[in-house]
Amino acid sequence: MMYDKEQLSARIEAYMQALPFPQEPDTLYEPIVYSLERGGKRLRPLLAAMACNVFRDTIDEVLPCAAAVEVFHNFTLLHDDIMDNAAVRRGKPSVQRKWGVNSAILSGDAMLIYAYRLLEQADTALLPQILRIFNDISLKVCEGQQYDMDFESLEHVPMESYLRMIELKTAVLLAGATAIGAVVGGASVEDRRRLYAFAIQLGMAFQIRDDILDSYGTEETLGKKIGGDILEGKKTFLTTAAMETADEDTRHKLAGLMHNKAMIPDDKIARVLAIYDRLGIRERAEQAVADYTAAALEALDGVSAPEERKAQLRSLAAALNRRMH
Ligand code: IPE
Ligand code: IPE
Ligand code: MG
Ligand code: MG
Ligand code: MG
Repeated sequence: MMYDKEQLSARIEAYMQALPFPQEPDTLYEPIVYSLERGGKRLRPLLAAMACNVFRDTIDEVLPCAAAVEVFHNFTLLHDDIMDNAAVRRGKPSVQRKWGVNSAILSGDAMLIYAYRLLEQADTALLPQILRIFNDISLKVCEGQQYDMDFESLEHVPMESYLRMIELKTAVLLAGATAIGAVVGGASVEDRRRLYAFAIQLGMAFQIRDDILDSYGTEETLGKKIGGDILEGKKTFLTTAAMETADEDTRHKLAGLMHNKAMIPDDKIARVLAIYDRLGIRERAEQAVADYTAAALEALDGVSAPEERKAQLRSLAAALNRRMH
C-alpha cells in the first residue's frame, strides 16, 4: 500500500522512540536520547521511507536504515553546534551548551557508531550497496563542513563554491537517505540515480531556506537563535549573493561588518540585514529556493513509477519550499 506522510512519520517516530540505548554511563547516553527526542522534522528518514514506498508496498524493511540516517544526522548536529558556537537547537539548549563540548564530541561519536549498528539490520544482500552510499555521503558531509569553516575566514566566496559547499554539507545526506530507501525498495540503478538527483536539488533548496530562516525566521518557530550565521561570519546564500550584487563600497562595508567581532551582536545583525534589504537579497534567495524545488520535481518526473506512487515525494518537496522551521 501507499503510506501518507502522517502514517510514515508515526512509524518512524515509534521506531525511533523504541531504539534501545544502554543506561550506563548515563552521561554518555542521556545527551543522545535528548537529541533524538521529538522535535526534529525527521526529513531524512521520511525521504528514505517515501523512496522505498515508491517501489514497494511494505516499509518495515527500510525503518532501520531510515533511523540510521536520522541518528547520523543528529550526530552531525551535535558536532555542528560546537563548530558554530550554537547555544540553542529545537528550542532547547544544544548538547554542547547543556553538557559541555566534551560530551557533545563523545556522545556524537557514539551516535555515529550507533548508526552503523542500525545498518547491520539491513538485508545482507543489499548491505554492501547501502554501505557504499552511506560511507560516500558521510565523508562528503565532513568535506562540506570543512569548507563551511574554511570559508568563515575568507572575504568573499564565489557563488559556485558556496553551492558546492552546501551540496556537500547538506544535500548529499538527503540524497543518500533517498537513494538508500530506493535500494531497499528494489529500485533499478537508473531510478535510484534519478531519486538521488531529485534529493540533491531538494537539499540545495533546503539549505538555502535554512540560510534565509537563520536571518529572517523567528526563534520561536525555528528553535534556533536568529542571526547566528551573521555573528559567526558564515558564508550563506545571503552573504554570497550580496557580495555578488553590491557595488565596491557596499562590498567593503559588508566584509568589514562580517569580520567585526567587537560589535554589539544585535547592531551587527541589524546592519547586515539593512544591506541585504537594500540589495533585494531575500527575494533572490526565495527565487533560488523556488528554482531548486522546480528542478527537484523535474528530476522526479524521470523516475519510472506511476505518478500516484511519487505523490508523497512531490508534496513533501512542495511543503519544504514553504517551511518556517
Ligand atoms: C538542520 O537540519 C541542519 C541542516 C542541514 C540545515 P534540519 O533542519 O533537518 O534539522 P531537524 O532535524 O529538523 O531539527
Ligand atoms: C548544517 O548546516 C549542516 C550539517 C549539520 C552537516 P548549518 O550549520 O547551517 O545547520 P543549522 O542551521 O545549525 O541547523
Ligand atoms: Mg554549520
Ligand atoms: Mg549550525
Ligand atoms: Mg543554518
